Amino acid sequence: MNAVILVSFALFASVFAITGDECLTRYQTEEDNLKLVLSFYDEAFGQHNITAVDKYISSDYIQHNPHVGDGQQPLKDFLVPFNAIKTKGPVDIRHTAVSGDIVWLHLKTTGFNGEPLAIVDIFRVKDGKIVEHWDVIQEVPTLSQSKNSHPMF
Ligand SMILES: *[C@@H]1O[C@H](CO)[C@@H](O)[C@H](O)[C@H]1NC(C)=O
Repeated sequence: MNAVILVSFALFASVFAITGDECLTRYQTEEDNLKLVLSFYDEAFGQHNITAVDKYISSDYIQHNPHVGDGQQPLKDFLVPFNAIKTKGPVDIRHTAVSGDIVWLHLKTTGFNGEPLAIVDIFRVKDGKIVEHWDVIQEVPTLSQSKNSHPMF
């Protein structure tokens, strides 16, 4: 009886040891993925450094924003005029989330005509590069146009 309990406990403990390691690995990977996306965003959008595209974006980058083509060069072609109308500085990122290889950023910025925008950017990371991107973009109305008293940010 005692032996059965001991063996059961050993099995139980070893299962938890493996699960613990897997949790740690997943946590570290997720932290790395979030850091990578934040570094890319800060360098490319905050510091207006389009060389960040070569460093962080995969050559076979898949783009889902319908206004930008796949790959590195179309992203650079978008970044140059997008950054030209803005001052350098930290991007106003309000929320971040990461699950496995997917990273979400919820941020406040302005569009090509200076209009305030609420954006959720979603990135997929693989082998230390950003390989895919989706986004959802909404114009921020004035508070008087809002049906509630809360600002969007
Ligand atoms: C621009 O980014 C590249 C790649 O990350 C880096 O090597 C370079 O030093 C940066 N340039 C400036 C002016 O920060």
